[in-house]
Amino acid sequence: MNTRVKTVVDDIIKAVQDVLIKHDVTFEEYRAGFYYLIDAAEKHEIPLMLDMFFNQTICDIEMKSRQGSRSSVEGPYFLEGAPEITDQIKVGDKAEPLLIRAEVKDIHGNPVPDVLVDLWWSDPDGYYSGYTDDLPIEYYRGKIKTDDQGRISVMGSVPEAYPMTQERHGPVGNLIEMLGGQGMRPKHVHQKYRKEGYKTLTTQTYFRGENYLDDDPVKAVFDELCLDLKEENGVKVLDLDIVLDPAD
Ligand code: DHB
Ligand code: FE
Repeated sequence: MNTRVKTVVDDIIKAVQDVLIKHDVTFEEYRAGFYYLIDAAEKHEIPLMLDMFFNQTICDIEMKSRQGSRSSVEGPYFLEGAPEITDQIKVGDKAEPLLIRAEVKDIHGNPVPDVLVDLWWSDPDGYYSGYTDDLPIEYYRGKIKTDDQGRISVMGSVPEAYPMTQERHGPVGNLIEMLGGQGMRPKHVHQKYRKEGYKTLTTQTYFRGENYLDDDPVKAVFDELCLDLKEENGVKVLDLDIVLDPAD
C-alpha cells in the first residue's frame, strides 16, 4: 500500500461524496458529469481542465515554504524538449519583437550563473508550439543558461492572450461558460528556472494594463507577477528579476 496516495485519494473521494450528498445529485446528473469527463478525455482536454482548477493551488502550497520569486502555474503547454538557444527564439513573421532579459539571484542577492532557463509563450494567434503540425516546437520556446552574472538576454515576441473559450476548446470552454466565467487568459510569458542546489521555480509574467488580468480563468495572476513593458531603441523590453531559493 502507498500511504500517501491512500491518505490523499481517500480524502478526495470523501470530499466529492459529500458534495453529491449536499446537492442531492441525481443519477442523470452523475451520468452527465461522467460523459462530460469522457468527452474531455477524448478531446485531450483533461490536462487543461486539471491545470485550470488545481495548478495554482499547488503553487500556493509551494509559496508557504518559499522566500524567493512567486511560483505560478506551469499550465499544460511546457515541453521538456525545447531547443537550446543562444540569444534568439524563433518566431513567425506576424510576431511583434520583444527582448526578454532576466537577472537571476539567490536570496542573499548574489547572481546565480548556469541556471537552465526555459521560456515559452503563445504565438500572435494564441497558440503554443508543439501542439499543432503547423507550429513546430522550435518556435516560441527555448532553453538557455544564465551567464556568470546570472543573466540571460533573448529576442522573442510579445505573446497573445490565450483563449480557453468554447470557440477554441470544447468541453473546457463550455464549462467556463456554464460557470459564468470568461475564457481568455491574459498575455503571459512562461518561465522555468532550474539549477542543482536550488528549488526549481516555475512562473509566469503578465503585462500591466493588459486585458483579462482581473478575471483569469486559471486564477494565476498576482500583482508582483505583472510588469510594465519598457522600450529601448524602438524595441519592447521585458526585464525579469528572479530570486531562487536554496534547495531543502
Ligand atoms: C493554463 C495555463 C496557461 O498558462 C495557459 O496558457 C493555458 C491554460 C492552465 O493552467 O490550464
Ligand atoms: Fe500559458
